[in-house]
Amino acid sequence: MKAVAVIPKTVNSVHLVEMDKPKVSDVPNGRGVLVEVLRVGACGTDREINNGEYGVAPAGFDFLVLGHENLGRVAEIGENVKELKVGDYVVASVRRPGKSFYDEIGEQDFTTDDQYFERGISQLHGYMAEFYAESADYLVKIPEKIVEIAVLLEPLSIIEKGLKQASDIQERLKIWRPKTAAVLGTGSVGLLTVMALRMRGYEVHGFGRDKHDGYLNAELCEAIGATYDSTAEITVPDSVKKYGEYDLIFECTGYSPIVFDAMQSLNQNGVLILSSVTGGDRKVDAVPADKINQQFVLGNKVMFGTVNANREHFEMGVKDLALCEAMYSGWLARMLTHKVEGLENFEKAFEILNNASSYKAIKAYFEVSKI
Ligand code: BGC
Repeated sequence: MKAVAVIPKTVNSVHLVEMDKPKVSDVPNGRGVLVEVLRVGACGTDREINNGEYGVAPAGFDFLVLGHENLGRVAEIGENVKELKVGDYVVASVRRPGKSFYDEIGEQDFTTDDQYFERGISQLHGYMAEFYAESADYLVKIPEKIVEIAVLLEPLSIIEKGLKQASDIQERLKIWRPKTAAVLGTGSVGLLTVMALRMRGYEVHGFGRDKHDGYLNAELCEAIGATYDSTAEITVPDSVKKYGEYDLIFECTGYSPIVFDAMQSLNQNGVLILSSVTGGDRKVDAVPADKINQQFVLGNKVMFGTVNANREHFEMGVKDLALCEAMYSGWLARMLTHKVEGLENFEKAFEILNNASSYKAIKAYFEVSKI
């Protein structure tokens, strides 16, 4: 079968490989599921891996099959798989257990291992292939009604984990009734965050670099009842004069200096969630450290980082996708701006990924096989 791979730590090494089709029996204890891949999303992490900045090949290989945003159809099941049947639609999670205590109890998204196992990213082949085999434990069933947009579930799972942690942390307050939220960054992850917060009833304010007019992402924010402002016109701290301080801020820009702006825009008892994996070495001067520190102390504020997601977060995501389809039918499909047919057209997919703003791309994805 065909797969799209890179040589990790080598710039622009993306290429097609021919591999053996996996088998249900590759997975122990009769828990194997053979999945026919239907769609695979391409994201910033894939771009970074192809830029040689990130990614580790599995032991015994010099290449890594890419792809972690996925949707597939069950083709075959092992004898101990009761929860899925042939023909079901599934999305697989990304991280697999390593050695730490958290991994042992099935919470590998909180691993303390330095080297983690992530399909398509680190030490495990990913889903940019015609088939993959996986344990049923890591597959989440997708209702047929949301199959068309379910390739968005994996990136959404990251947001769901962030929001779940925020509400867990805020249990420190006997009552927390957040009303307003700011979402920094309105790319695909930012838009999914705007959506997830709107599904929870927040007043949501999205911020991006692009000017408002003619910007599809701004239109999508507004179509779902959020606002959009360009940070070229108003800084996040200045926006507080317009919208008030935010009870929750979700950072997903990939631009770390904005974190210090966000820290100054948080309401009393507020929570700031960081989700950008910033691999560079940017530094910032003139951060008003005393002021920020004092605001955090006197306002009982919280900031935390979040990465990856576990089964429960994928399941929360399924519900938000379904609710969004019910409330704003067709909105999620508008995020799927660029379909690339066939894995052999990987060059096109990476061309779009590397030039997302000139393509006006929100989400580029492979259609590996028809739904
Ligand atoms: C993936 C996560 C992963 C993270 C760090 C993200 O793009 O969605 O599952 O944990 O990269 O590798």
